[in-house]
Amino acid sequence: VRQRLAQKIEDDPRFALVKMLNAGSVAKGTALSTIGDMDVAVYVKAAAAPDEERALIAWLRDRLKETYSKLDDDQFVACDHCVKLIFRTSSYVDIDVVPVLYEGEADNVGYLIVHDTGERVHTSISRHVDFIRKRKQAIPDDFAQVVRFCKWWAGCQKQLDADFRLKSFIVELICAHLADTGSVFSDYTEAMSSFFLHIAKTGLRERIAFTDYYPASSLPDATGTPIEIFDPVNADNNVAATYSTTERDRIVAAATEALEAIADASYATTKARAVEDWQVVFGPSFKS
Ligand SMILES: Nc1ncnc2c1ncn2[C@@H]1O[C@H](COP(=O)(O)OP(=O)(O)OP(=O)(O)O)[C@@H](O)[C@H]1O
Ligand SMILES: [Mg+2]
Repeated sequence: VRQRLAQKIEDDPRFALVKMLNAGSVAKGTALSTIGDMDVAVYVKAAAAPDEERALIAWLRDRLKETYSKLDDDQFVACDHCVKLIFRTSSYVDIDVVPVLYEGEADNVGYLIVHDTGERVHTSISRHVDFIRKRKQAIPDDFAQVVRFCKWWAGCQKQLDADFRLKSFIVELICAHLADTGSVFSDYTEAMSSFFLHIAKTGLRERIAFTDYYPASSLPDATGTPIEIFDPVNADNNVAATYSTTERDRIVAAATEALEAIADASYATTKARAVEDWQVVFGPSFKS
């Protein structure tokens, strides 16, 4: 898919699409094996694209149709904030194409249309990949594995409660904060406990931020939003800005329950009891 676009751009340098980058968990190496969709970001010449979002997505779909002219019309689906490319031949992967409005900035910085909310944020997905890669290098294997466990837990909560919200990027940033502040990752029980304890203890009321790409002094004063977890790339972008107090408290309650279950499991005198406890964390598919 990327090669075909690269060819199209080479053939027609005036084409409104600039490049395609892997975004999301496959690029970061934190995908679950059950992943449904792959994320790619398509960089779009900002001046050539419509401003209004529905028009932008429809426009992007048409540009993708021009690029992949061998695919059928119904393989391109304009969704709320992305275009889905549907491949009937592959067993599991659809590709979600999110637009980044781009004006030639370095390090792939542009205005990303965030997949789930449609917010426009000035950021760089490739810097996010580097940010996660750095933590993976500091804690080989275990960092990514613990992220996957925590994402699995969040997925289970979503299955139990359709209103539960906790996006993968936020899980990764909480794990990165724990990694940067010396939490143990090699013992998975301890690592999971640290993740839940952090959420339970702070109530997610403590700001999380990083200094990889800007100094702490660039961060704003308290913004008044229930959760503050800042984009490592842009100090003005609170990744959790759209979460309500109710949504925050739901996360805290679920984390508290998981923490208690793990503690109970460590004192359990039968394996059956311990498995039951861990099912609170990982859902009914968890087996001994
Ligand atoms: N609010 C945001 N601000 C800045 N970048 C964001 C924001 N939300 C998502 N991103 C970017 O989108 C990427 C994808 O994040 P997202 O949480 O949607 O899923 P993911 O990492 O692909 O995980 P999975 O698909 O397994 O749930 C992030 O790595 C980040 O680069
Ligand atoms: Mg994804």
